[in-house]
Amino acid sequence: MVSRHTQGCFVTGTDTGVGKTQIACALLRSIGRLGISAVGMKPVAAGGRRVKGVLTNADVVALDKSSRVRAARKLRNPYLLAPAIAPHIAAQEAGITLDIEVLASAFRSLAERAQYIVVEGAGGFRVPLDGQFDLGDLAQRLQLPVVLVVGMRLGCLSHALLTAEAIERRGLTIAGWIANRIDPSMPRYRANVRALQERIAAPMLAEVPHIAATGARRARLDAILDVSTLVSCAPRKAS
Ligand SMILES: Nc1ncnc2c1ncn2[C@@H]1O[C@H](COP(=O)(O)OP(=O)(O)OP(=O)(O)O)[C@@H](O)[C@H]1O
Ligand SMILES: [Mg+2]
Repeated sequence: MVSRHTQGCFVTGTDTGVGKTQIACALLRSIGRLGISAVGMKPVAAGGRRVKGVLTNADVVALDKSSRVRAARKLRNPYLLAPAIAPHIAAQEAGITLDIEVLASAFRSLAERAQYIVVEGAGGFRVPLDGQFDLGDLAQRLQLPVVLVVGMRLGCLSHALLTAEAIERRGLTIAGWIANRIDPSMPRYRANVRALQERIAAPMLAEVPHIAATGARRARLDAILDVSTLVSCAPRKAS
């Protein structure tokens, strides 16, 4: 449960590689610019490479760079698995369990240090943690409003609607969804956006165009994303 003083959101997506990290980082920067101390959390990351002997994950690094609050990696990313495969399988192979209690406890520790926590899932909403829980259950445990990133490509309509259904079934609020144009040549893009607007009750928070130049992407994203609806009150001091 989010502490009385800490707000947050859970960024999920219609799939892996749909722009969750790009969006989560932009949210962190925008919230930071409001004077709110924000930190990014990647509870479970699968896919790492060794940098100077230390296993590192690109999402964890990117979220940290966009955060105003510095926190230990163990809190921001309790589980880091080397192979880029389904996390619970990577965990099994490594002989560990992805414990939802460990994740909730790390979140609570971050909540003592930051006013706002942006949690990025891994892959889609129902990626398993163990035999019992999945990432959707974590979002529910943390009672976070969910931001759904829809990677706009052929096939995304069903993925988006199934995800919205799963979020709502857990009693969670969809704070909003973002149309992220990962495939610039998606046929009938506009009609697809309209189809989602007609079927998802939550607001479309933003429409992110395809931005091929990585150098330009950051500034464009920052200009597009309006976080006012995610942050429910004026900046205040953490307790
Ligand atoms: N609007 C966009 N325009 C162009 N490229 C984009 C856009 N959004 C995301 N990308 C590219 O898509 C790829 C995947 O993005 P990102 O890493 O944010 O996805 P993700 O959903 O966080 O993936 P994962 O499930 O691995 O965490 C990246 O290479 C990113 O540069
Ligand atoms: Mg990511």
